[in-house]
Amino acid sequence: MLDDVIGWLRCPACGAALARAAGTLRCRNGHTFDIARQGYVSLLASGLTPVGDTAAMVQARIDFLAAGHYGPLADAVAVAAGETGSAAQDPAGCVADVGAGTGYYLAAVLDRVPGRAGLALDASKFAARRAARAHDRIGAIVADVRGRLPVADRAAALALSVFAPRPAAELRRVLHPAGRLLVVTPDSDHLGELAGPLGLLAVDPRKDERLTARLRPYFDLAGQHQHRFRLALGHRDVAAAVAMGPSAWHVDPAELRERIADLPSPMPVTVSVTMWTFRPADQRDTRGPR
Ligand SMILES: C[S@@+](CC[C@H](N)C(=O)[O-])C[C@H]1O[C@@H](n2cnc3c(N)ncnc32)[C@H](O)[C@@H]1O
Ligand SMILES: [Zn+2]
Repeated sequence: MLDDVIGWLRCPACGAALARAAGTLRCRNGHTFDIARQGYVSLLASGLTPVGDTAAMVQARIDFLAAGHYGPLADAVAVAAGETGSAAQDPAGCVADVGAGTGYYLAAVLDRVPGRAGLALDASKFAARRAARAHDRIGAIVADVRGRLPVADRAAALALSVFAPRPAAELRRVLHPAGRLLVVTPDSDHLGELAGPLGLLAVDPRKDERLTARLRPYFDLAGQHQHRFRLALGHRDVAAAVAMGPSAWHVDPAELRERIADLPSPMPVTVSVTMWTFRPADQRDTRGPR
């Protein structure tokens, strides 16, 4: 619920704390943000062009995840979250998921860390609507991780980024110094059997290097683990896998339908991802001016 996370939120306009006031969140300087009927709040800072998944992309992800294809990944993320020590109450803080999507992974993590609240941050209101209902301890916020997160310093005992953006400096700021960051990225052959026949975007083979390089000033790598397994996907599942991913922005839907029709059914597909655990690099104060 939103109430579980309000204490960790900050006004995107002035950085002050927020409190509930008659269907809104309000800061002491009078900035107010409506609580949507579906339970999420938009705390978008002004000035950025909107990004975030469309309703169709979110629906595709809902369908694909509901079929259980990524259940082993959710289990692995939840186990890793439990192993970081964040199941205990020390340090205090929430589990903050950036680019949380439908809240699928965050909900799995919260089941493993019973005392903690989950903060789902996503630029898509369609995703936030869904995440708000994914678990009774999730509060869902529409926020753009390209800007300052509407989250207090050191609010999170654990931060997640699963197939999602990784704003290094902001992740470091909102993470407790004793906290951990879990990142899941696709390997270069993730869903590889679909890439050629369907003309999907290739995963950059140097992505791993870029990931660690961009996080390095703020985080040290504490662990790295590859998860690989095979799926047998029917055509509907293949269509959902494409529609929920980055290629959805680039591939013509009619052409895609034709190409999928030419695939065998079921289609063998490799899931290959790396799960990374990072710890804050040092104790230096990364707090901003607020
Ligand atoms: C590939 S999806 C992954 C969603 C979820 N973590 C999962 O794995 O099911 C990437 C998510 O990042 C969100 N996103 C993309 N750019 C963003 C931004 N600048 N700020 C916040 N969220 C963003 C999208 O709306 C989308 O929900
Ligand atoms: Zn304010």
